[in-house]
Amino acid sequence: MPNSRATARATPLLIAEHAPLTLNEAAIDAARASLHDGAVTPNVGPWRHDIVRLLNDALATELVCMLRYKRHHFTAAGLASPKIAEEFLVHANEEAGHADRIAARIVQLGGEPDFSPDSLTTRSHAEYDESSDLKAMIRSNLVAERVAIEAYSQMVALIGDKDSTTRRLVEDILADEQVHAEELKDWLAD
Ligand SMILES: [Fe+2]
Ligand SMILES: [Fe+2]
Repeated sequence: MPNSRATARATPLLIAEHAPLTLNEAAIDAARASLHDGAVTPNVGPWRHDIVRLLNDALATELVCMLRYKRHHFTAAGLASPKIAEEFLVHANEEAGHADRIAARIVQLGGEPDFSPDSLTTRSHAEYDESSDLKAMIRSNLVAERVAIEAYSQMVALIGDKDSTTRRLVEDILADEQVHAEELKDWLAD
């Protein structure tokens, strides 16, 4: 049976041994140099290449989603639900906005945003779709949003505290995709 007095004595000791929260002075000194890196400081440095790669895959995903929603907007316009066709355009514009924010962050990190149309669909997590039926369009958009939500959730976990600016951007976009998915789920049920 554990000695309760010993346990009570051990607790403050554990707290006292906890590593103090101190800044990395060497990294702060390094931040004074390398001015050509702009906003990229040593904290992000080791992960920059990986984060740019993840962001470029996300950029491809956003561009494919924007194209799919545009296609659906124009082809659904003649179908029974002009309201949903209009909503597809709203989503298309929001995906384009996401793509712009991701591209801007890639440049901030010293990378190059990849807008190459040749490899868009192979790099994108989500798929393009040419359905002609409104329900099939909604379903394919919901699948794409769910794929994006999963990919962005994994990115948030991977990036963690390695690059808080990128993580916040991804969290912001993730919240928008969750709203998109909820809307699509409702339209599918109508
Ligand atoms: Fe998006
Ligand atoms: Fe979306």
